[in-house]
Amino acid sequence: MEANTARIDGFSINLYQTWLLVNCPQSYTASLRKRYGEVVALFTPLGTTFAIALTPNSARQILSADPAIYDAFWKEGFAGVAGSGSIWVLGKNEHRRERQLLSPAFHAQSFRGYGEVIREVTHQKIKHWQPGQTLRALDTTLSISLDIIMRLVFGAENGKFLDEGCRVLTALWRNMHPLFIFFPALQRGWFPPWSRYARAKNDFSKWVSKYLTERRARKDRTDDILGRMLAAHYEDGLPMRDEDIRDELITILLAGHETTATALAWALYDLGTCPDKLENLRIELASLGVEPDPELIAKAPYLTAVCNETLRLHTLLPEIARELVLPLELSGHTLIPGDSVGVSVMAIHHDPDLYPEPNQFIPERFIGRTYSPFEFLPFGGGHRRCLGSGLSDYEMRIALAEIVTQWDFEPVGIEREIRHDIAMGPKNGVLLRIKGRRTSDKN
Ligand code: HEM
Repeated sequence: MEANTARIDGFSINLYQTWLLVNCPQSYTASLRKRYGEVVALFTPLGTTFAIALTPNSARQILSADPAIYDAFWKEGFAGVAGSGSIWVLGKNEHRRERQLLSPAFHAQSFRGYGEVIREVTHQKIKHWQPGQTLRALDTTLSISLDIIMRLVFGAENGKFLDEGCRVLTALWRNMHPLFIFFPALQRGWFPPWSRYARAKNDFSKWVSKYLTERRARKDRTDDILGRMLAAHYEDGLPMRDEDIRDELITILLAGHETTATALAWALYDLGTCPDKLENLRIELASLGVEPDPELIAKAPYLTAVCNETLRLHTLLPEIARELVLPLELSGHTLIPGDSVGVSVMAIHHDPDLYPEPNQFIPERFIGRTYSPFEFLPFGGGHRRCLGSGLSDYEMRIALAEIVTQWDFEPVGIEREIRHDIAMGPKNGVLLRIKGRRTSDKN
């Protein structure tokens, strides 16, 4: 097949432009969209092309193409971090098989019963806040999301086991470094950040093995995520191997912990800077009654709009990507195997024609208007769309409702977005001044 990628308008990307793409994705992709329109081709020093969709139309062409033409992007970098059995790095049939196996554990009905747990965990984490105190909201939201994800994955376990799991997982996550993801050649013992990460991963593996042995010996069949993995069988009747379970646990815990916590911290920041929106939200929540059913909370329209607008305004993963194993026609051009394609979610989420005043927090834009899956895509799309999106939406809504019902707060200073590892996050972790309690403490 003859390549005609050179006809996609683009440029040979240098180090400075790569830095801009990584560190200033919003302004840089806006300038690319202005200059190149639908799609831009970045010609890499490796001789391959990375074509980035900058509009919903080109995003649709990439995300609704046959999954068989794609492999995972940057497999080497992610395989070291999560393991070669991780869904992040599995390609083609193996990826489809793994998603089939894991998806039921992430269906809405699987975690619906956890609404009360989410509310209670949030309540316990914020009940010690003091009027007048200034705190880093991200510390609290990280602690909430870690506790919740551990309970969802490992069930109702509590006490020493959960504490140890939280400790090994926190060490794993804190030792993750973007350099060894982007440059897999640095995944060697002589590179200190990698050896620290490798040690943490080893501790995590030992902890998981100990727990799997104990859990199998108990022979109880629980419906937490781990229980579902232990009971699941692939189409050929084989169960998951321990090392695959371990790799998927690392993936789920890394993918789901910091992302949800960051989104929740941003929601507090945005609401704190827009008291009228916060008031609208409180009016809606009050109309649901005292301690309403979590299902009612999760479906509340204004709360849903607030969470969607937070995920749009602070696009946590500015870009998603795939590698081609078969050709793809994109906006009239042919890309060939070995090239990569991506979608700049950031560019689409900040397109002023789609989202007027794109840098303002306006939840009302999500009321009475539905955006297509190529216009609003905080969780990516197509066959690799985020597996935890339903869980994350649910958790964010219930935790946010609990916090705004319990406390009055305001942000201290202006927050800036910076790249943390792969995702974007608030530079100072969202500093909040706690003004006072809105309800009397229940316990
Ligand atoms: C606000 C929170 C979250 C955001 C913004 C987010 C975003 C994303 C995005 C953009 C992708 C890539 C999708 C693509 O390539 O099309 C992804 C993949 C993934 N996410 Fe999330 N995520 C969040 C929370 C979670 C949670 C809570 C979990 C699990 C508990 C999770 C598990 C995963 C997994 C397993 C994948 C890989 C899916 C695959 O390759 O098939 N995520 N996420």
